[in-house]
Amino acid sequence: MQITGHEINRIVLKRGEIASRVKELATRISLDYQDKDLVLIGVLKGAVFFVADLIREISIPLTIDFISISSYGQDTDTAGVVKLTKDLEEDIKGRHIIIVEDFVDTGITLSYLIEILRLRQPASIEVCALISKTGNRKSDIPLDYYGFELGQEYLVGYGMDYNEDYRNLPYIAALEPGKQKTT
Ligand code: PRP
Repeated sequence: MQITGHEINRIVLKRGEIASRVKELATRISLDYQDKDLVLIGVLKGAVFFVADLIREISIPLTIDFISISSYGQDTDTAGVVKLTKDLEEDIKGRHIIIVEDFVDTGITLSYLIEILRLRQPASIEVCALISKTGNRKSDIPLDYYGFELGQEYLVGYGMDYNEDYRNLPYIAALEPGKQKTT
């Protein structure tokens, strides 16, 4: 699928590659969390596609919930102040949680989330990110599960956006800076 009128530089991960890696991650999670009260927490909006695919490959019982945060600071960079805009509905005290992200870049978003969720006394907190972007980490995040390690290209698709566009691409692509849509 290609969205007409939008210029994509290059496909980085095809849907088949994503699907098989998601399956592998789900298999590991299913083994690691057997007999545990597992709550998967998707971080809106980018993680919705990953969460939806991941949970359908997980073979043990689990609960899902979503959280949303906003970052303020340097333009499209996420290296600013982070604020909670939608809280969880589940009580996570004593439960095993996995925070699910589409990508981790600076790590600031995740470190904020881990900090606030730890105060609610879950039994454990782990992180599952589809993509770990290297080279710009500002916070040391233990990435317990990740799908792919990539560089600093601007990625869109499979939940990731540029000014809210491209989220619905079924693959992950890189946007060429000169071809990014301006609004
Ligand atoms: C993206 C992504 C992570 C965060 C990672 O969210 O989904 O939450 O940035 O960046 P960091 O490691 O540098 O903090 P974004 O703010 O773009 O919101 P979205 O998920 O709604 O697209």
